[in-house]
Amino acid sequence: MTNKYMYFIANWKMFGDLRTLNSLDKVIKFSKINKRKSKLIYCPPNTLIRPMSKRLQKTKIEVGAQNCHVSDSYGAFTGSVNSKMLKNVGAKYIILGHSENRQEGESDKLINLKIRSAIKSGLKIIFCIGETLKEKRNKRTNQVLSNQINKGLKSIRNKSDIIVAYEPFWSIGTGIIPKSKDLIKSVNFIKNKFGSKPPKILYGGSVNNQNISQLKNISGIDGFLIGGASQDPKKFIDIIKKTYN
Ligand code: 13P
Repeated sequence: MTNKYMYFIANWKMFGDLRTLNSLDKVIKFSKINKRKSKLIYCPPNTLIRPMSKRLQKTKIEVGAQNCHVSDSYGAFTGSVNSKMLKNVGAKYIILGHSENRQEGESDKLINLKIRSAIKSGLKIIFCIGETLKEKRNKRTNQVLSNQINKGLKSIRNKSDIIVAYEPFWSIGTGIIPKSKDLIKSVNFIKNKFGSKPPKILYGGSVNNQNISQLKNISGIDGFLIGGASQDPKKFIDIIKKTYN
C-alpha cells in the first residue's frame, strides 16, 4: 500500500469528441470524494482542451495538451498550434517527446526546443522517454534513456516544471509491461541521472486495472501515464483506487 503523492495522467491521444466529455462526470464525482494523495490530469486532443477545462473548472482535475509547435509566437505554420495558445485555452501541462511523435520524425533537438518554448509559455512538461524493442534486445536501454535526457533537456537549468514519463516503446498499446526488475532498473537509472534533485518519474505503457497491482509496487514510480484505459472512466478510477490498496 502506498501513501505517496501520485500522478494519474490520461493521454487520450487522437480520441474523443464533445460527446465523450460526458464520460468525465463519473471521474469528477470520484475526485470529489477521493481522499488519496493524487493529482489527476487529462490530456485530450486540442479540440477538447477548452470545453474540458470548463467542465473541470470547479474540480481539482487539471488539463494538459499532447504536443505543440516549436515556436512560442504566432507564425505562418498551417495546421499548427503553439504552447501559448494551448495555455490560453486551459492547458496547464503538455506531453512532449511521446514515442508516437518521435516515430513520426521528432528529433531530440526539436523536442528540446519545444520543451523550452512550452516552459516559457508557463506549461508544465510531461517529458516522455523510452527505448524500442530492438534497443532493449541490444541491451541499449540505459544508453538510449541517457541520450534522450541529455539532448531533450539540454541547456534547461530549471527542471522544476518537468515530469519524466518512462514509456518503453514496445509496451505502448501492446498489453505488455516490463518485468518488475527491469522497470526498477530503468526508473533508478533515470532518477540517478538527475543527481540530487530527481524529477517525478511516471511509468506509461499498457497500464490497466489488472497490471496496476504489480506496477504500484515499484517504489520509485510517482504515477502513471495512461493511454487506452484512461478513456474508460471506470477503468481509470479503478486504476487510481487499486494503486492505494
Ligand atoms: P497505452 O496505455 O494505451 O499503452 O498508451 C500509453 C501511452 O502512450 C500514454 O502516453
